[in-house]
Amino acid sequence: MVLELHPMVETDFDDFARISRSSFQGGIADLLTLGDLTPEVLASTRDRHLGHFRDDPHSRYVKVVDSDTKAIVAVAYWEIRQEERPMEQFLEDTGPVPIPPTAHPEAWEEFFGYLTHARRNVMGNGPIAFLHLLTTHPDYQRRGAGAIIMKWGCEQADKYRVRAFLEASQKGKGLYEKFGFKEVERKVFDLSKWGGDSVDIMTLMFRDAEPVPS
Ligand SMILES: CC(C)(COP(=O)(O)OP(=O)(O)OC[C@H]1O[C@@H](n2cnc3c(N)ncnc32)[C@H](O)[C@@H]1OP(=O)(O)O)[C@@H](O)C(=O)NCCC(=O)NCCS
Repeated sequence: MVLELHPMVETDFDDFARISRSSFQGGIADLLTLGDLTPEVLASTRDRHLGHFRDDPHSRYVKVVDSDTKAIVAVAYWEIRQEERPMEQFLEDTGPVPIPPTAHPEAWEEFFGYLTHARRNVMGNGPIAFLHLLTTHPDYQRRGAGAIIMKWGCEQADKYRVRAFLEASQKGKGLYEKFGFKEVERKVFDLSKWGGDSVDIMTLMFRDAEPVPS
């Protein structure tokens, strides 16, 4: 199996929605679940991201493809900008979708409340390479697809001389550390408050741009 990186195209966004749903499992994700991936839910995820893809010139959607089967195995949404942006507009554009009936309302509020804090107070509105989302299909995890996407994103950040920022899940943190991301803050979600039996951790991480060899 050879894994190849490509820019996403409009017809890839159903796969984007399917892969995201299948890989975000466990921990707090189970309390935020949108329920079954019905055609309506799939369409709403697809259309929200297609909107960013079409309308935001700073959005960069990439995919990793298995060259044998041509299947998309991992996807990511980066935003790479060299100029400031109005923060309130950004929060409105990327804010939570309406709370689904299957989600736990307090978990939802605490999770998205923390994301808003992370973006407003930690990332800020300056030039940035922001990893909105990275996800590898569960059948293809730990085979290097995530690293291919991280290498590309870090090269873009270096090329445009911007810091990179992300909100790491526990599964992603080790991978991000390998690419030079450093923890600046973390949030521990106590899942026992909502009937779970463990904690989940989100780690806010920055990586400074590195000089590009001339
Ligand atoms: C986090 C995530 C995107 C990583 O994607 P991935 O394709 O599995 O990433 P990689 O295979 O490049 O690297 C993951 C780990 O596998 C290891 N690895 C890479 N190639 C490997 C191989 N051939 N054999 C064994 N391990 C390998 C990496 O060293 C890394 O180890 P670490 O986690 O201990 O640091 C994936 O686990 C995922 O989608 N998780 C659910 C959603 C999520 O949490 N997304 C991140 C949100 S911030």
